[in-house]
Amino acid sequence: MTRVNSRLRPFGATIFAEMTRLALAHNAVNLGQGAPDFDGPEFVKEAAIRAIRDGRGQYARMTGLPELTSAIAERFHKTTAITIAADEQTVVTCGCTEAIVDAMLALLEPGDEVILFEPFYDSYPAAVAMAGGVAKIVTLHAPHFRIEAASLEAAITTKTKVMLVNTPHNPSGHMLDAEERRTIARVANAHDLVVLSDEVYEELFYAQPHQSLAMEDGLVERTVVLSSLGKSFSFTGWKVGWAIGPAPIISAIRAAHQFTTFCAPTPLQVAAAAALRAPETYFTAFRAEYKRRRDLLAEGLRASGLTPIVPEGSYFILADHSKYAFEDDFAFCRFLVEKVGIAAIPPGAFYKNKQHARTLARFAFCKRDETLHAANERLRSLPELAAQRT
Ligand SMILES: Cc1ncc(COP(=O)(O)O)c(C=O)c1O
Repeated sequence: MTRVNSRLRPFGATIFAEMTRLALAHNAVNLGQGAPDFDGPEFVKEAAIRAIRDGRGQYARMTGLPELTSAIAERFHKTTAITIAADEQTVVTCGCTEAIVDAMLALLEPGDEVILFEPFYDSYPAAVAMAGGVAKIVTLHAPHFRIEAASLEAAITTKTKVMLVNTPHNPSGHMLDAEERRTIARVANAHDLVVLSDEVYEELFYAQPHQSLAMEDGLVERTVVLSSLGKSFSFTGWKVGWAIGPAPIISAIRAAHQFTTFCAPTPLQVAAAAALRAPETYFTAFRAEYKRRRDLLAEGLRASGLTPIVPEGSYFILADHSKYAFEDDFAFCRFLVEKVGIAAIPPGAFYKNKQHARTLARFAFCKRDETLHAANERLRSLPELAAQRT
């Protein structure tokens, strides 16, 4: 008899692996996985190569290489005007994913409740479960995906300890507006909650600049900002992430980090420091490129009869496929990969209440122009192929 941890039983193989398998089997254009099909900048690669050649191959300081933690503090100050003590208020992890788990391990007692907003990044409920917490789900509704004060308040109990927020948001691309930020601050303060703010898409905004939740009045003392190198520098496989927050919480997160991974790879931390010190022109050019990619894919989706929800941030577009009357998001995405030759993600993967995802599909636009053009070309055949199905 296998005696495996029941808390992890619901978290088996994900739809991402299944869609990747189908994409390969059908030679599809893969707009499923949120990973660029191009490389990150040369100056960052060079910094990593130099660090390896210079013999920086041993463990880094557990809390993060000093040159990286100070670069994190500098960049944070530049984008938020908040001054932090790099030595006490940051910790470097193996991607944001580790930071999320470490934060849950640091904060939760068994049975403590965590507010999650669905659709959510799929590691959130697993991280809560690993730490023995209980996820309380608040549903955000298409097409705006705004946080409504009433539904948030209805989910709070005396056991609520943490609220996990994501802006810019995967999969909707929604960015919290001023009213939502005020609601979060009011509720967090009223109920003495810790706010975990996943801001991995912080550099990918197309209308209003991203505003960290830590900047909201009354939130800096109770907010941990989580981010990483992966999205902002197109190195999702490097898995260098970090948490920034109040010293006592960071100290607890460090305790978890110390005994999970101890440190992120040293040469990649050296390169991450170089990346974060990039001139502002890097970030503006990066955003301009992504805005162009977003508009290119949105155009192809529209031309195929789908209704894209054009994102304010992130590198994903949700599109509504109700016009074609598929049974649900899984049926549509299966048809799309098998018959049209495009892999997308059925967003039910991001919901506990999967019925909310039925008419949607998620497309990633972190792809080369040739990939997006190929996708748009194939999308043109969707109306006809959908009409032919029995
Ligand atoms: C919202 C969100 N948070 C965290 C992550 C993971 O970040 P990392 O690769 O740095 O662990 C992702 C990756 O897709 C994401 O979409």
